[in-house]
Amino acid sequence: MTDSREDAAALDRGDPLSAFRDRFVIDPDVVYLDGNSLGCLPRATVARLEGLVAQWGERGVRGWDEGWLELPVSVGDRLGEAVLGAAPGQVVVGDSTTVCFYKLVCAALDARPGRSQIVTDLDNFPTDRYVLEGVAKARGLRLVWLDGDPETVTTVIGPDTALVTFSHVSYLSARIADMARVNSIVEDAGALMLWDLSHSAGSVPVSLDGDDAPLAVGCTYKYLNAGPGAPAYMYVRRELQAELRQPIWGWLGRRDPFEMAPGYEAATGMRGFLSGTPPVLALAAVDEGVRLVAEAGIDAIRAKGIALTECAIALADEFGIRVASPRDPARRGAHVALSHPDARALCARLIERGVIPDYRRPDVIRFGFSPLTTRFVDVWDGMVALRELIATGAPPGSG
Ligand SMILES: Cc1ncc(COP(=O)(O)O)c(C=O)c1O
Repeated sequence: MTDSREDAAALDRGDPLSAFRDRFVIDPDVVYLDGNSLGCLPRATVARLEGLVAQWGERGVRGWDEGWLELPVSVGDRLGEAVLGAAPGQVVVGDSTTVCFYKLVCAALDARPGRSQIVTDLDNFPTDRYVLEGVAKARGLRLVWLDGDPETVTTVIGPDTALVTFSHVSYLSARIADMARVNSIVEDAGALMLWDLSHSAGSVPVSLDGDDAPLAVGCTYKYLNAGPGAPAYMYVRRELQAELRQPIWGWLGRRDPFEMAPGYEAATGMRGFLSGTPPVLALAAVDEGVRLVAEAGIDAIRAKGIALTECAIALADEFGIRVASPRDPARRGAHVALSHPDARALCARLIERGVIPDYRRPDVIRFGFSPLTTRFVDVWDGMVALRELIATGAPPGSG
């Protein structure tokens, strides 16, 4: 139990990951509890980007043949191995999460012709919901909304289901889905499963190969600390790669793009899932973020994520703040959702005090803990600040 700031500081002294914090650029006057929205800047990334910018200056267009063109695949392989439990040749990095999601949604639907239904859950992240709405409308398909945990998909799945898609860790509550179980339910129904791993990668162990996941996407700017707007990744299980076709037939997804020949012919393997010119600077930042996670080890990261969230939940209970995340740590990612009717105003007031959470409608204050950068004293300071603001009464509706 953490009864004082001194108790929290003692936990930091015993934290095997504590040295990682110094490897990031962090404002000492801020309690940063939003690493699940945008992770902190690794110092190694600053150096890597400086080197890359110099290479751009010195080598110009020759850089493409000196490693740049390989980055979507080479960074994808490293990310797959260190973070996603995916053997090489199944992950590429490029495009935003939204675009990667769209590509795999279309590819999956094309691979299940004659089936008219897409299943997702009401709590899924907005961009996923909106993309599905658009695709369903364009193709005349029915979008079925599950109102419950992913494991209850048995209540809505059927022979007409072409695609099921959920977030592995919910952006709202942080609940973790049972990936292996859902994959097997969906596979038994003859549909394809697509995971959004944005809140999982770099915070909880993921075993795409081990859990027989067919498809996944996710962003890199949260727990992988790759920076604002950093590109996302796509995973396509090896056996599906020849069958699935993504819909954006750009030149860099073509067999031998520099042939510039008429007619599109998809490249084999994951290259066929690429479309346009890779964002080289941002890919290098993904690489550095992945390196840090690999060095720390996902098991140590997970253990600290559990300890930080347990600490926050114990304080929330003591302070009488409602917890909207699962209580079982095995079912919870690295953030904690706290609910309060004045959540919006409280978040605004926290930010004024230098505590950075985020607000999610209608009543959620999200405290995101990044195990490589968040200290136990940050949890203490954030929770105490919230208790004080609730006690003094944040003006309802302000902020
Ligand atoms: C689960 C999830 N999917 C997707 C996104 C964002 O997609 P994009 O990177 O295209 O903006 C987020 C952003 O927070 C997210 O939490």
